[in-house]
This record gives sequence, C-alpha cells and structure tokens, in this order.
Amino acid sequence: MTTALSKQSLLFMTFSLALTRFSYCSVANANVNSNIPAIANHFGTKGRYEEVNRYLINDILSVNKSILKPVCTNSTAIHVTAIIRHGTRYLSTKNIKIMQRLYDLVLNEAMNTDKWLKDIKTKWEMWYTDDMDGKLVEKGRDDHRHLAVRLATLFPSLISEENLRAHQVGPSHKINDELMRFFDQCQKFVEDVENNQTALEEVHLFKASAEMKRVQMKMADQLQVPYNRITPDLVEAAFFLCSYEFAIKSLNSAWCNLFDETDAQVLEYKNDLKQYWKRGYGHDINRKSSCNLFHDLFNRLDQAAREIRFGHVSEAVSIQVGHAETLLPLLALMGFFRDETALTADNFDVQNGRTFRTSRIVPYAANLLFVLYDCSEGLRLQFLLNETPQNFPDIMHQAPLYDTVRETYRELLQGCNFEKECELSSPNSEF
Ligand SMILES: *[C@@H]1O[C@H](CO)[C@@H](O)[C@H](O)[C@H]1NC(C)=O
Ligand SMILES: *[C@@H]1O[C@H](CO)[C@@H](O)[C@H](O)[C@H]1NC(C)=O
Ligand SMILES: *[C@@H]1O[C@H](CO)[C@@H](O)[C@H](O)[C@H]1NC(C)=O
Repeated sequence: MTTALSKQSLLFMTFSLALTRFSYCSVANANVNSNIPAIANHFGTKGRYEEVNRYLINDILSVNKSILKPVCTNSTAIHVTAIIRHGTRYLSTKNIKIMQRLYDLVLNEAMNTDKWLKDIKTKWEMWYTDDMDGKLVEKGRDDHRHLAVRLATLFPSLISEENLRAHQVGPSHKINDELMRFFDQCQKFVEDVENNQTALEEVHLFKASAEMKRVQMKMADQLQVPYNRITPDLVEAAFFLCSYEFAIKSLNSAWCNLFDETDAQVLEYKNDLKQYWKRGYGHDINRKSSCNLFHDLFNRLDQAAREIRFGHVSEAVSIQVGHAETLLPLLALMGFFRDETALTADNFDVQNGRTFRTSRIVPYAANLLFVLYDCSEGLRLQFLLNETPQNFPDIMHQAPLYDTVRETYRELLQGCNFEKECELSSPNSEF
C-alpha cells in the first residue's frame, strides 16, 4: 500500500494543470450507501467515470487486466502519453442561478404532495452558491488519484517511482493553456462557433422539439404546476441537480424522481447535440482547432520511437490534463466516434444507436492513452479510451504498427496547421 500511495501522489503531482480556474475545496462526505440513480448513464459530460467502468463501483482501484492482451510476444511498453480530463467539479454560476429559480418555483408553486416532493421542500436545501463556479470538488481530486494508481498497475514499467524521479528533481508540471485550452486561442473557432448563435441552431431547434415538449409537460405534471411555467432551461436544471447531487455527493436525490429513462435519453441527446456542434464533427473548425495538440502528441511518440533505437527513451510518461473541450476535438480530428449521419434536431430516433455519446466518451476524468510498444516486427501503438482499447478508425487491429498509424494520419501529419486553420478569413482577402 505504501508504494501504491507514493506512486499515486507522485503521479498526481505530475498532472500538468491546464485548469486555470480551478482551486481545491472539500464538500461533505459522500454517502457510500446511497443508490445510483436509474438514469445515471445519461448524464453526458456531467457523468461519473464509474458509470463507464462499472467494475470500479465495487473497487475503485481495480484494473481489468483482461483488456490488455499482449500486443506482441515480448511486448514492452516504452512510452505512454495520457490526455486526461479534470475530475468532478462544480457547475458554473450560470447554471447555479437557474437551479435557484427551479428551487423557488418548486417551493412556491408545486402542488404535488408526494413524499419525494415533500422531501425536496422540507429536507433538501439549495446548498450550491455562486462562488463554487467550476471549482474542483474532493471527489474530483480522488478521480485523478485513483486513476493514477490504476495506471501504475496497468503500466508498472512506465509509471514507476524511478521514472517519475528521472530528472532527480522529482516530478514537475507546467501550465500550458495554449496547448490544452486551444479552443480559446483559435480565432476562427471563437468567431464562427463560440460567438455565433446560428452555429448551434440544431440545439436550439431540439429545445423546441416535440420530444422536449413532452419532457416539459411530464415534469409540469409531476410537480403539478401550469405547463407554461416549465421551460427547457428549468427541465435541464432539474436534470443537472440530479446529476450533480450524484457526481459530487454520491446521492440519488429526490430530484431524480422527475425523470424516467425516456426523459433522460432526450436530455442526453440535447447535451450530445451541443457537444457535437460545438466540439465535435458539427463544424470542421472544432476538430481543426486541436491541430497543435495532435502534432504535440505525435512529436512525443516520434521522439520515443527515435530514442528507442538507441536503447533509452527520455520521456517514459507524459500526462496532460485538460477539459472535455480538449479531448472531444482531438478525438474528432482523429476520426473516432464518427456517425454516418450528423446529429440533428429532427433525428433523435435515428440516432438512438449513435457512437457519439458523451456519457461514454467524456465523463469526469475521461482519459486517452497512447501506448507505444517495442515489438520485434517494429513499434506498435495502442489507443485506450477510459482504460478500454479502441481500434483506430479504418485500422482493424488493436495495436497496429506505429508506421501504419502514421500512414493513416499522413495528411494531418503533413498539414493541420493551427495558424492557418484558425485564421479569420478577411472579408477583403481577394484584394
Ligand atoms: C474486463 O474486460 C473484458 C474484456 O473487455 C470484459 O469482457 C469483462 O467483462 C471485463 N470485466 C469486468 C469485471 O468488467
Ligand atoms: C524475448 O525476450 C527475451 C529476454 O529479453 C529474449 O531472450 C527472447 O529471445 C525474446 N523472445 C522473442 C521471441 O523475441
Ligand atoms: C455562423 O454559423 C453559421 C452556421 O454554421 C454559418 O453559416 C455562418 O457563416 C457563421 N457566421 C459567422 C459570422 O461565422
């Protein structure tokens, strides 16, 4: 246990914090005996990591070793680059304000006298405050501590005390927002998508769809308030309350009674639509804004590939911490989770089996691992999402030759120039 603990603290310290707005604070102890909301795997980017790997619910440090079949005889992992999302954190001030409105509405107008609603009115308190704005919670720090221990178990030869102390000065980290918060730096993205109402048209349309209306009416019925009192924003606030009470406090709160499986699927789709159009395949610039991170990744892999020929890899492990907004564009750039048809406001039913499902892809502490192996036939690269191997798009092998991967991404490797992609097209460019 001592070694595990020292590994865990070492690794945690090496997580380079690209999270400028974060600070640490603790919340009340999680109730370990609480149940899991029936809709817990529909929380999208507000979802708990344990929902993706259910075996962790019983033992948060367990590793499913059967997923890592040897990629070749004598397979030796020589390098891993990990790109990791921050752990569980508080919601934004904007969402807290909407929750407050919902809570007031319930206190003052809901006529339903069921026990769960009485519980909300008499026992539950609005404990979220504006100053929590996006801060990491204690569970969020644990998310990374536990992940660090599991990664050390998965890759004992790489994530070891010796390697982390390689430079005699102990583990170090630096903040590099340019690399990890590229979405703020890409002017074309900011102008064409972030600050452009029409870029998320499909989300607005879906908020006004028949599916969404049905959820609003059901919620109004449940609370016994007039239909016109429940807006899509208030529905979402209630869904957030259910998800945050769970993510932060491990509670299956009374708010979750407002939703059944069908409702949750609608709200999950609404969130996926937003991520799809703002961070995923919806607009080409979303993907392209991650060009620098893509090149950074391959530079690391290339360097390890070069160095292993001389028998020594200088950087065994690279750990980069960012946001869902960091991971999704890179995944899209590399062609992962691409559905044949676009996610739109009017194809909710068709998209029932979609692969672009943020609940599975980017829960809190989501992680991408790129692992290089030295095999007699050449170097091989394995990709794991949330500790599960994934095939690269169009390569039918769980750990293809590194050369094959580079060939697949040849165009991006030779192009994908951040400056060029992110440049605003000047209205007078023809002159
Ligand atoms: C471990 O992974 C294997 C292969 O993906 C899977 O079949 C098995 O169910 C997993 N075990 C647990 C306990 O989740
Ligand atoms: C595997 O590694 C061992 C020790 O490094 C070596 O003796 C053996 O020849 C290798 N086997 C193969 C098939 O490469
Ligand atoms: C806003 O988004 C729409 C839809 O993607 C696009 O057609 C339009 O050019 C964008 N406007 C600006 C100013 O970028």
